[in-house]
Amino acid sequence: MAEKNIIVLPGDGIGPEVTAWGRKVLEEVASRFGHTFHFEEKLIGHAAIEATETPLPDDTLEACKKSDAILLGAVGHPMYDNDPSRKVRPEQGLLKIRKELGLYANIRPIIIFDELIHASSLKSELLRGADILFFRELTGGIYFGEPRYRSDDGQIAVDTLKYSKMEVARIARKAFEAAMTRNKRVHSVDKANVLESSRLWRETVNEVAQDFPEVELIHMFIDNAAMQLIRQPKQFDVVVTGNMFGDILTDEASQIAGSLGMLPSASVGDHTGIYEPIHGSAPDIAGQKLANPLATILSTALMLDISFGLKEESQSVIDAVDQILKEGWRTKDISSDETPADHVLDTDEIGNKVVQHIISPVEA
Ligand code: IPM
Ligand code: MG
Repeated sequence: MAEKNIIVLPGDGIGPEVTAWGRKVLEEVASRFGHTFHFEEKLIGHAAIEATETPLPDDTLEACKKSDAILLGAVGHPMYDNDPSRKVRPEQGLLKIRKELGLYANIRPIIIFDELIHASSLKSELLRGADILFFRELTGGIYFGEPRYRSDDGQIAVDTLKYSKMEVARIARKAFEAAMTRNKRVHSVDKANVLESSRLWRETVNEVAQDFPEVELIHMFIDNAAMQLIRQPKQFDVVVTGNMFGDILTDEASQIAGSLGMLPSASVGDHTGIYEPIHGSAPDIAGQKLANPLATILSTALMLDISFGLKEESQSVIDAVDQILKEGWRTKDISSDETPADHVLDTDEIGNKVVQHIISPVEA
């Protein structure tokens, strides 16, 4: 029987609404499978700035370092988006916690539920059977490179795109290891026709590939990859790429799954992992119970599997989500014209359905 300490970082916007359901699902799993999960909530993002003037209070970071896993909602608030002069920003909290915990590998599976294929703007026949696993480098690249500054006269701004061989090799290795358990194909995405850092990326990925002779390695430029992803998603199995290219490509890839509201992620590395939906804080729908909690719930499945090694428990969460979708339950973002009005549920109603559908192996 496992005993685990989980930190919940609800964050901003719809974050508190969706993490509440992630937590309830974990509580249900704990009670059905006989585990003990302790939860503690901490501040991050705009919520933390409001209370403490910093987007990642020390107390949050310390609690996270001591925990076994972290469930995060989302950070971000519109008041900063339209005011670039603000020095303290919610996103800094997220970037700092990823860096401090050494979470260099951001794993974003593109999971396609057949029932939701219609929710995508892409043609169904392109999507059915697609299954892509993204490895986005998360603690390097242009998000963190130095120097970064605005010139004294304000006319020039500089960010630096920097990668070391060590940083590329460790994320590449994770991608190849995953490919060995799947279809043994890795696409490495870069811009090596223009960027020196991408040439180092490509050279290093080639070196790591030597240790995985069974895996087919295909290099692709980011512009082409963005196009190929919606032209023929089924050509991809595992994709490995840098921080910013991965940020953009995974939002694009969410459309293959039908909705951004369905995609979970795991950030892992040297320390405690963070599990979070890939969607943002969605301030436009916050507080209205319109948010889709399924991405967060599926993130708890990744937590159970990757951080706790509880495979059956993880599968029970995925099965519950699968089951409620098969029964026709939807949130607004994944509904269609054909969805009966009484099957379009709010955040709490669909969260409750998932909880009710989690069954322990004895019952299955
Ligand atoms: C993500 C988000 C973050 C990122 C933002 C909120 C800093 O878009 O997790 O994909 O760019 O990494
Ligand atoms: Mg993003």
